[in-house]
Amino acid sequence: MKNNRIYLSPPHMGGKERALLLDAFDSNWIAPLGPHVNEFEKEMAQYLGVKHAAALCSGSSALHLALIIAGIKEGDRVLCPSLTFSASANVILYEKAQPIFVDSDPNTWVLDLAACEKAMQKYNPKALISVDLYGQSCNYNAITDLCGKYNVLLIEDAAEALGADFKSKKCGSFGEMGILSFNGNKIITTSGGGMLVSNNEEFVTKARFLATQAREPDLHYEHKELGYNYRLSNLLAAVGRGQLEVIDDRVSKRRSIFNQYKKALSHVDGFTFMQEADYGKSNRWLTTLTVNEKVVGISRTQIIDALEKENIEARPVWKPMHMQPLYKKCEYIKSDVQDVSAELFENGLCLPSGSSLSEGDQGRIIDIILSLMK
Ligand SMILES: Cc1ncc(COP(=O)(O)O)c(C=O)c1O
Repeated sequence: MKNNRIYLSPPHMGGKERALLLDAFDSNWIAPLGPHVNEFEKEMAQYLGVKHAAALCSGSSALHLALIIAGIKEGDRVLCPSLTFSASANVILYEKAQPIFVDSDPNTWVLDLAACEKAMQKYNPKALISVDLYGQSCNYNAITDLCGKYNVLLIEDAAEALGADFKSKKCGSFGEMGILSFNGNKIITTSGGGMLVSNNEEFVTKARFLATQAREPDLHYEHKELGYNYRLSNLLAAVGRGQLEVIDDRVSKRRSIFNQYKKALSHVDGFTFMQEADYGKSNRWLTTLTVNEKVVGISRTQIIDALEKENIEARPVWKPMHMQPLYKKCEYIKSDVQDVSAELFENGLCLPSGSSLSEGDQGRIIDIILSLMK
């Protein structure tokens, strides 16, 4: 008989989620909004060290509202790393703006600063969506300087990076606005959800307004602007509050899973683990590495297939946006030396990294990989 499936990053309840959810249910604050939404916003803002937060139905909706609030209009140029999940870039198209993709640093995999500056010089973009990829912070000292120099508004996509740091400040707190995701595969989850955070109260008030169909404060239903139904439900916010209580445990468990993989596998020539930048502690949302097939003798895909045979989910790293059919006509600024994001995609592997992964199961994953080298 096959073992139970091991997923890449499954939900991991553990604290008070159930009790909080039942509290929301029993109080009949089922919809719309409610006290858990307000508390979740306050608690998250406090955790991140930002002044304001708006709880929304997804990270994608948070990014979409961030672009609207930033005043991005048809034809405006917006920079975005090529190596990311499609949601980071899709919102640019929602507003009929023009994505310009930027390459990654070969070690930390986040935005390549030289390519980013080149893109700012060449395209005069209005905004940059910086992505803290797989839980690794971008270099916000350098990025903030570049955005100041070229007058570019910074939106931080920290969907994968809750609990990660840049120096001693939390990811999500950089830029004019930051966004988080609580999708089912993230480090904490509300099954689906997201947040827009900012130190600018006007931005967050505007996000709440747009997320509730841009309803004017009249007795009747009055609308002057285009709105959306993007708020988070009180039931899901209750789950989020329970999850936020255990975020520090979740970060340390994911980091120890990464360290265990590295300890067991980094002696293999041709395996290169995604590096932690010296400026910031990653939350190691997913353990990622590249597999140099010529040196290792087996490919990334062979490893994925071998794990799949044992009912274990592993995946390639994100396929860069400049390689996606949807975005093939968009500009891409690659790094000086090579197309880093394309290479990371060719060889990059994400291993099961959920914080509920047992030592035994991780040992089994490691043994399967090592057995392929024999
Ligand atoms: C980098 C990145 N940005 C944005 C999102 C979108 O978040 P959501 O799925 O909550 O819409 C995700 C993940 O899902 C992501 O990984």
